[in-house]
Amino acid sequence: MTLMDERPNPWSRRVAVTGAGGALGSALRKGLQRRGATVIGISRSPAPRNGDGPRQDWLVWNGSVDAALEALLLTVDILVINHGVNPLGRRDPQAIAETLQANLVSAQALIHLFFRQTHQLPDRRRAYRELWVNTSEAEVGPAFSPVYEVSKRSLGALLTLQTLDAPCTVRRLILGAFRSGLNPYGPMSAGFVAERILDLAAWNLRLIIVSFNPCTYLLAPLAMGMDALYGRLCTRPTPVNSQVRDRFNGDP
Ligand SMILES: NC(=O)c1ccc[n+]([C@@H]2O[C@H](COP(=O)([O-])OP(=O)(O)OC[C@H]3O[C@@H](n4cnc5c(N)ncnc54)[C@H](OP(=O)(O)O)[C@@H]3O)[C@@H](O)[C@H]2O)c1
Repeated sequence: MTLMDERPNPWSRRVAVTGAGGALGSALRKGLQRRGATVIGISRSPAPRNGDGPRQDWLVWNGSVDAALEALLLTVDILVINHGVNPLGRRDPQAIAETLQANLVSAQALIHLFFRQTHQLPDRRRAYRELWVNTSEAEVGPAFSPVYEVSKRSLGALLTLQTLDAPCTVRRLILGAFRSGLNPYGPMSAGFVAERILDLAAWNLRLIIVSFNPCTYLLAPLAMGMDALYGRLCTRPTPVNSQVRDRFNGDP
């Protein structure tokens, strides 16, 4: 079952967004709320004050998996892994460690948790679960930030492998440069990018590319296809622990 299903509003789901306080995170939250989704922000900072707008569902998150995060993710239909950091021109050990931790290690922890939970859910819940991962155009082209590129390329390559055994729909967001805290010079606005992402997701695309660079539309599917083939040939499927799967046969 996907967003394309004929339901009164296919967006009426619970969606959690990491990096919720950032430029794209905020734009995605607004776009999702406008479409009728219930959005839960996951952020290192407290929920923003919202004037007369809808109340913000929010989890303050320190980047590691804890009981509060596990409990929250069990209740959501869609998890958008969006947080990220760009050390720009730095290559010192601290910049490398912080970038890998934020862009790769914590994203991997979320992917593992979301898949493990999805396996444990009953079929009718599992059918609505989706994982969206914001890897970036840096997967297939220069971002003029080598450490950032390594972290995003590694995230993308591992995501391709993990998608081979995914228990739910996985959508990959490959985005060109847009203006944000992480990149003040991007030609696109975060609002524009968020709207294109949501439009393409509504068309049920698994590979969501928003970029002005035509090479990305060629290179990204090619790289993903090659990585997937390499993974199929050289790795074994991940066995699903049936005992874990049977634990949640009733409602969560
Ligand atoms: N801007 C671009 O040109 C561009 C292009 C392609 C892809 N992207 C990707 O888009 C995503 C959103 O970035 P953005 O451009 O909107 O930048 P942004 O405004 O800086 O938002 C990124 C958010 O990630 C969270 N974050 C930052 N450092 C973190 C850390 N060490 N641990 C955990 N969370 C951290 C923060 O959110 P909280 O304060 O809420 O925790 C931050 O606001 C990132 O994954 C980025 O790589 C950006």
